[in-house]
Amino acid sequence: MTRLGFIIAAVTGATLLGACSKEEAAPPAPAAKPVVVVAEPEVDPVTGLIMAEHWEIVRANCTPCHSAKLVTQQRGTAQQWLTMIRWMQAKQNLWQFDTETESRIIAYLADNYPPDAARRRAAIPAALMPPNPYSSTE
Ligand code: HEC
Repeated sequence: MTRLGFIIAAVTGATLLGACSKEEAAPPAPAAKPVVVVAEPEVDPVTGLIMAEHWEIVRANCTPCHSAKLVTQQRGTAQQWLTMIRWMQAKQNLWQFDTETESRIIAYLADNYPPDAARRRAAIPAALMPPNPYSSTE
């Protein structure tokens, strides 16, 4: 750094420091913050399932094979949940439910774990993807 550059830097630094300490000397009066109370749904500390109506039926039927996390991280409409259940019944040995139990399970899942736009994003168009090094067409 040249001598002049050093002087400019030193002066600028001093000015900045001066500006900072001035602000610190007179903090703005704290504004009254509005109190927002959001009722969080109660969550079972063991499974993590939302403790809404029918949650115990879901705990009994949906946690013997895998963690409840597989359920709570998933989202879906009633139809999508039903499709997942049908898939487990066809491929993963999930037992059949009587109609009433099944409709309670589906209602619980669709109400408490509905599709959430904020969690999803559209697939990236192929044109915006990086080149695929494994592609056999090039
Ligand atoms: C009989 C065993 C069994 C029961 C009971 C069971 N599942 Fe599953 N489920 C599986 C298996 C096996 C998988 C696949 C696990 C994996 O991919 O590692 C799975 C996967 C899942 C997935 C992930 C699906 C995906 O696309 O990744 C969800 C969600 C799920 N189960 C929800 C449920 C719900 C809701 C219930 C209760 C109605 C339930 N499961 C009960 C066996 C079961």
